[in-house]
Amino acid sequence: MQLESDAHENTVDAEPTVVNCYEFFETLFPASGLLDLTDGMYYGDDSIPYDEAQGNQCNWLLDEVGCTSGSRILDIGCGNGRLVAAAQRRGADAVGITVSPQQVNRCRSQGLDVRLMNYRRLGDDWNGRFDSIIANGSIEHFVQPRDILARRQDEIYREMFEIFHRLLDPSSSARRVATTVIHQHDRTPMPPAEVLLRSPWRFRWKSPEFHFVSLQRGFGGSYPHLGQLERCAASLFQLSREVDGTEDYRVTSEMGNLAVRKTLFSAAGFFDVWPHLIGFVARHPSQGATLLAMVTGGSWRWQFQGSPPPTKLLRQVWQYLE
Ligand SMILES: C[S@@+](CC[C@H](N)C(=O)[O-])C[C@H]1O[C@@H](n2cnc3c(N)ncnc32)[C@H](O)[C@@H]1O
Repeated sequence: MQLESDAHENTVDAEPTVVNCYEFFETLFPASGLLDLTDGMYYGDDSIPYDEAQGNQCNWLLDEVGCTSGSRILDIGCGNGRLVAAAQRRGADAVGITVSPQQVNRCRSQGLDVRLMNYRRLGDDWNGRFDSIIANGSIEHFVQPRDILARRQDEIYREMFEIFHRLLDPSSSARRVATTVIHQHDRTPMPPAEVLLRSPWRFRWKSPEFHFVSLQRGFGGSYPHLGQLERCAASLFQLSREVDGTEDYRVTSEMGNLAVRKTLFSAAGFFDVWPHLIGFVARHPSQGATLLAMVTGGSWRWQFQGSPPPTKLLRQVWQYLE
C-alpha cells in the first residue's frame, strides 16, 4: 500500500518507556518461544497449544472486522506481525504499525508491510485508506500515568477514535474497528496517578500497589475504566460486540510465565538472554529494575488471577457512525 508519511529511520516519535519495554522483551520472549504479546483464545480448554490459541484470536479479530480477499486492513500495534500475515493469507492488503524498531525488522524479514510509526502521527495521506482497523493490545500504552495526573485520559481516547474514524473509508461496507484492551476492574481500582509515578520498590512486595506500579511504569501506559472507551467513542463509533477474554488472558499469562522462567534458568538463557537484560538495565536503570520486578514478582499473571481478577480483558468491536 502506497502511503507517504511513515518514518524512514530507525527512530520513532513515541513514548520512550513503551519503545524501551519492547526492546527489553525482544530478547526474552522470542527466546522463550513467545512471539505474540497478547491473549490467545482457548474456549475453556487449557490444553489447546499456545500457537493454536494465538491463531484462534487472530482469526476471531479478522472475522469480526470482515477481513476477506481485497480488504484493506490496518493493524495498530502489530507486534511481531501474526495478524498482518494472517490477513495477507486471506488475500487482504494489510499494513501494520508499531513503535518498536525490533518488531519492524522482524516483520519486514517475513516480507510484511510494517512501518515504524506512532498512530498519533499518521498523516492525512492515510485518511480513508482502510476498510477496517485492529488494535490488539496496543491501547494500554496510549495513556501514561502523567496523562492521568493531568486528567487527559478522555481527551486521548477521544482523539484515538477520531484518528480511527478518519482512517476508515466512508464508502467501505465494513468500516469496523476491533480492539482488545485490559480494563481496570471497579472492584480493584488502580492506585491514583501520583502513586503510579513512584518506584514499585516503595511498596510491599507483591501488594496490589507493587503490581499496578510495576505494570504501568514497566510497560509505559495505563488501563481505561469499564465504559470509558464507549463514552469516548460516542458519535464516532457504536460498540457492536463485547466479549470478556480475561480467563483466556489468565491461561496465556500462566503459560507465558512458565516459558519465560524456563528460559531465564536455562544455560541458553544464562549466555544469550541475561547479558541483553543486564545491558538494558545498565542503559535504563529505573525501567530495567521495574521490568525485572514485574517479571520476577509475577505482576503480569497477578492481574488476571482471583475472583474477580483485578483487571478485565475486553474484546470489543466498533461500528463506524456517519
Ligand atoms: C502488547 S503489544 C501487542 C502486539 C500484537 N498486537 C500482539 O497481539 O502480539 C503492543 C503493541 O503496540 C505497539 N504500540 C504501542 N504504542 C503505540 C503507538 N503509539 N503507536 C503504534 N503502535 C504502538 C507496540 O509497539 C506493540 O507492537
